[in-house]
Amino acid sequence: MIRSATSGPAARPRCAEPGRDCPLCPRLVDFRETWRSREPGWHNAPVPSFLPEGGPDAVRLLVVGLAPGLRGANRTGRPFTGDYAGDLLYATLSRFGFANGRFDARPDDGLELIGTAITNAVRCVPPENKPVGAEINTCRDFLAGTIGRFAHLRAIVTLGRIAHDSTVRALGARPSTAPFGHGAAADLSGLRIFSSYHCSRYNTNTGRLTEAMFVDVFDQAAEHLGRD
Ligand code: URA
Repeated sequence: MIRSATSGPAARPRCAEPGRDCPLCPRLVDFRETWRSREPGWHNAPVPSFLPEGGPDAVRLLVVGLAPGLRGANRTGRPFTGDYAGDLLYATLSRFGFANGRFDARPDDGLELIGTAITNAVRCVPPENKPVGAEINTCRDFLAGTIGRFAHLRAIVTLGRIAHDSTVRALGARPSTAPFGHGAAADLSGLRIFSSYHCSRYNTNTGRLTEAMFVDVFDQAAEHLGRD
């Protein structure tokens, strides 16, 4: 069933990308500073959205993850790059033609996104992969700004409940109007929002998310975009 939800008034234009030294979340700033001194060669900064070759105007599908992994995106500077979650995500994107080239878990591996962008609900790495509510709320302005950049956006795939609820709120609606559920879909602000369990190692190791379940969500998104 595709739910249809109404959203609030159009938001004012917002900034899409935090600066390298974004000061907004004190706990995340402290964590970033700790890792900057421990690993000066790492990215250790808000991780920018990964855009396709044609830039913002080419984006029809947006994937929203949770937050950079410490040794993944926080190290490499590209979402889902360098930790396990990226292996399944990029393989699935390639399977549906949303990505092209060889994914080698490095930002210079040459992999390109096709009509697709990837971002995170929280841009800085949180301790133990767990952003707190205030950090999710604060970073939502950047998520709203990111969504607002894409004039031809048609669909969003949210990975996990936190990314989903923050995306729904960024679109001006309450999560109860477009509830999270693996394989669920809802129409909001002219976009179709597909939700999936997060492709984390924990979820795949425990069997909560299988490859087939993940593929199925992108299959729905591809079908929607194909029909559009
Ligand atoms: N890497 C990301 O960039 N985001 C996630 O949600 C998980 C890993």
